[in-house]
Amino acid sequence: MTVATAQAHPNIALVKYWGKADTAANLPATGSLSMTLDIFPTTTTVRTTDDHADRVVLNGVERDGTVRERVVRFLDHVRGLAGRDDRAEVVSWNTVPSAAGLASSASGFAALAQAASEAYGLHLDTRALSRLARRGSGSAARSIIPRFAVWHAGDDERSFAEPVEAPAIEMVIATVDAGEKAVSSREAMKRTALTSPFYPAWITSTAQTLESALEACRAGDLDRLGRITETNALRMHAVIQGSDPSIRYLTPVSWSIFDAVARLRAEGLRAWATADAGPNVCVICPPEDTAVVAERIGALAEVVVARPGPGSASREPAA
Ligand code: PMV
Repeated sequence: MTVATAQAHPNIALVKYWGKADTAANLPATGSLSMTLDIFPTTTTVRTTDDHADRVVLNGVERDGTVRERVVRFLDHVRGLAGRDDRAEVVSWNTVPSAAGLASSASGFAALAQAASEAYGLHLDTRALSRLARRGSGSAARSIIPRFAVWHAGDDERSFAEPVEAPAIEMVIATVDAGEKAVSSREAMKRTALTSPFYPAWITSTAQTLESALEACRAGDLDRLGRITETNALRMHAVIQGSDPSIRYLTPVSWSIFDAVARLRAEGLRAWATADAGPNVCVICPPEDTAVVAERIGALAEVVVARPGPGSASREPAA
């Protein structure tokens, strides 16, 4: 019996991942760019056992059904790499307050990748760990990396995340609705690729957008990176809305936050909005503008401030 514990944080994409090139290996159709947060870590312990079945306990509740199946499939892959077939108990604590409405699959699978690979005796470097996390949830590949990460499109060998330098930014996260989303990102991605007439344009433009975003990062050009971030998010929501049946994640309150961010810019502040597959809105800004942005957006929704955070890391197992 071996045991390992690891911790990882959520990340928010500045250039989004939306579409797969391969579902089995979870390869993205385009690369993406993200900021790993310093808040809401997931801490996961994996203990190999002599039992006949894997056990999955999330936030103190034993899970079955699709949640468990997803974890078991992931463990099967780790066991395949390790040449082992003993089962495991996975105990995971996710500190995202349910009110924050942030997706936990990125931090969850990043922490699971690190803890499971260690418990099964694999010695993976950062690249291999990022490739492994990718199989659980695409965006988890980026939560392995501290601060800012680019996740490359490519085949299984080449599709990993690695660090990039970026201008100093902080993020004001506005919770519009903390509930479960109506359509999962997995299902919505599939529907977008199959039915949205804008999907081919989204793929070609996002590949170019990522190049421009990386150039802006290299140049330390926050204004350019900010514009790219907001435009890319709105393009993602446009391609999603173009699906049949249509899917809309942004609500009137989400739009009011995009409007408020535009007003802040008109007043001379530097702030840009983005949103994942849900109604919550994240606003990036330079650290000197965070307090004002948080105050203004805080009038429309509950807000929390995040800074660039650590990559995944091993922890001492809890007793
Ligand atoms: O990692 P997944 O399968 O939950 O997909 C994440 C999709 C977005 O959050 C909308 C975009 C992104 O790049 O994180």
